[in-house]
Amino acid sequence: MAHTVYCPTKLIFSDDAGADLARELAGLGPGPVLTITDAGIAASGLLNRLLPALRAGERRVEVFADVPSNPDVAAVAAALAAAQAVGPAALVALGGGSPIDVAKSVSVLLTHPGMRWEDLQAGRAALQRAGVPLIAVPTTAGTGSEVSHVAVIAAADGFKRGVVHAALFPAVAIVDGGLALSLPPRLTAATGMDALVHAVEAYLGRRANPTMDLFALAALRAIVRRLPVAVAEPTNLEARRAMAQAAAWAGMAMDQAGLGLCHALCGPLSAHHELHHGLGNAVLLPAVLAFNARAIPAERWPALRHALGLPSDAAPDALHDWTVGFLRRIGLPTALRDLGLDGSTFDVLAAEAVRMAMIGNNVRPAGEAECLAVLAAAL
Ligand SMILES: [Fe+2]
Repeated sequence: MAHTVYCPTKLIFSDDAGADLARELAGLGPGPVLTITDAGIAASGLLNRLLPALRAGERRVEVFADVPSNPDVAAVAAALAAAQAVGPAALVALGGGSPIDVAKSVSVLLTHPGMRWEDLQAGRAALQRAGVPLIAVPTTAGTGSEVSHVAVIAAADGFKRGVVHAALFPAVAIVDGGLALSLPPRLTAATGMDALVHAVEAYLGRRANPTMDLFALAALRAIVRRLPVAVAEPTNLEARRAMAQAAAWAGMAMDQAGLGLCHALCGPLSAHHELHHGLGNAVLLPAVLAFNARAIPAERWPALRHALGLPSDAAPDALHDWTVGFLRRIGLPTALRDLGLDGSTFDVLAAEAVRMAMIGNNVRPAGEAECLAVLAAAL
């Protein structure tokens, strides 16, 4: 089966993010650095922990800590203005998917003067060259943004639109599960479920390929076994490191093989209801897998069943109950009603979900009616 794998990001699975960050920055040469993060990370002490490494060699380091959750084009413009004032030789993104995606956007806008992010989203402009080198340092084990070539930013109308381009691959990703030790259990569970959904959608998707199957299945095996440990014992370093590694593997699978219906529904859901991306995916997953179960090719099922730890006689229709059980085990809600939804926005969500590119990669074709049925089942 012909397929291409392209992930030019230097991926460092690290035991000491500070030391690796100092070495990678030194390798990029002199010049100021802008660190892009959010207020939570800045307040958590993580930023202060890494500042000595950032400042090694008397380097000038500025910090932009105003990235909101679910960032929009205005957030990108604000970060870009801060970056232009610094003229950075390199960017460091510290945080979850939001700071990393904003930093990716800033990285390429810095080398394309006059370009606005909304121009790229609308297809009115195209990237012509590499961005300012970006080092991504994820502090959650979930989004996989550190190894992907997409930046998802909400447009002015609230629609979360991904821009995809090879220039958006970070130059370096430093994956150190030790940075997640203070992540609270609920966020650990929600971000970990995001990674699980990346792996399962990449494995089941139409663009699945044998190389990314290796990453997706290994990620699933690790997440199913280690996420409950990381939730129950937040300071368990071994579980944190296993989750950080698995999230990067799942991110590579997502980036190279694509996503599916769960993420297509979650984009509008999290935008309209200001839900955490991982939590939205988690709560949607049982109904999405119940919908997809009958379309899973027979030859694809045994490896997935095994990775999830299901018994040898389990059929794909067991996926719904398995997922609900797993969500309960890690303390997450299992229904949209638990998140305050009443179904009144489902028409809007379904109409927007079919505009999401990743829906075309889903193992079972889904139009607006199918999206409505899955949302109703998830309620
Ligand atoms: Fe995701």
